[in-house]
Amino acid sequence: MKKIAVLGFGTVGSGVVELFFKNQQKIEQKAGQPLDLAYILDLRDFPDSPYAGKFVKSIDNILADPEVSVVAECMGGVEPAFTYLMQCLEKGISVTTSNKELIAKKGAELLANAKAHSCNCFFEASVGGAIPIIRPLHRCLAANEITDIYGILNGTTNFILNKMLTDHMSFEDALKMAQELGYAERDPSADVDGHDACRKICILSSLAFGSHVYPESVPTTGIREISLEDAAEADKLDGAVKLIAFVKQLENEKILPAVMPMFVPHDNMLSRVDDVFNCVEVCGDAIDKAYFCGRGAGKFPTASAVMGDIIEAAKHDKTVFSQDWTDAGNQDFIAPVSELVCGMFIRFEQAGSSKTISETAAAFCAKEAINGTISASDKACVTMPLNAVQRDELLDALRGAGLKIAHWMPVLPA
Ligand code: HSE
Repeated sequence: MKKIAVLGFGTVGSGVVELFFKNQQKIEQKAGQPLDLAYILDLRDFPDSPYAGKFVKSIDNILADPEVSVVAECMGGVEPAFTYLMQCLEKGISVTTSNKELIAKKGAELLANAKAHSCNCFFEASVGGAIPIIRPLHRCLAANEITDIYGILNGTTNFILNKMLTDHMSFEDALKMAQELGYAERDPSADVDGHDACRKICILSSLAFGSHVYPESVPTTGIREISLEDAAEADKLDGAVKLIAFVKQLENEKILPAVMPMFVPHDNMLSRVDDVFNCVEVCGDAIDKAYFCGRGAGKFPTASAVMGDIIEAAKHDKTVFSQDWTDAGNQDFIAPVSELVCGMFIRFEQAGSSKTISETAAAFCAKEAINGTISASDKACVTMPLNAVQRDELLDALRGAGLKIAHWMPVLPA
């Protein structure tokens, strides 16, 4: 018999508790032993809850019980979550968390503490909600040199962009709907401005490349600048606008992580990931590409990942060493975003200019000796991959031909 405690009875925490009691028999069978969800930590009172007898208001009640062997943190925020989990690990209690902010900022310290006390710090629920991605990345794909990861990692923004395109819904109405459905963060600017996706790509980058990537090192742009016109014009050019969090390994061995809205061509699976779904494309030298898709937010999808970790923690008494990274002491292994080579989706203010666009682009390509094509509609175009200098030169050439640029965004690199 192993005792479990859940910290926080919000959307995710209550989902973990409900899922445990709904599927307890199956969960115990998978864990290979009886489990007792003994404590729920929350400062609020829940007198009418069927679990009313399990609530405690202090972490000390949990730390004082030597039979507790797994703690699931679902509170969000860095403190007091970090202090509580460090206290648990110091007692040899394995922890699992859905808290991406915590892992993105403090993951190296938590993992080192778990290792020092021969227990585990799991965080499958911190990236991609229900999608198994953390364990596949460090276990199933362990034989690969990972070269790139591209992800739709925020359900709220994907839901909003999808509603803007398919239902012509305003940004504000779509955000309100995402909040009502329980997808959005407590502060929705974390979703809309890309910080949530940034934290998630920090976690995947750290795991894939072994050194802690901190959120401050990742250039991040959200979706506030995306208009209904961007979505419609991208569709005409066979693509979709998606908020993409990515990390690429460059030839100089540095990595380039960033979060930004991108034009995703329809021939890439990510362009067809809609609603609150997330999808992660992992590229490795042995696998070419693998895709991991599923519900990226919501009560039970996230609870499913937390519960999976609880079962794993109950089964494994020793630290899982492959789920690990360290703090390199600096962020010099990260390349500036200006080193990104990518195409451009460019939208113009006025229609009727496809001939000018094509002629200007053809002249630019001839001058630069670039092989490639630029597809154009009346109001937008998509270019072949260019470096930062070439991108600026092409934008200047288009402006020089009298075209007014409304907005441009990168094309998802092939
Ligand atoms: N607000 C997050 C999202 C929740 O929309 O993806 C899951 O991390």
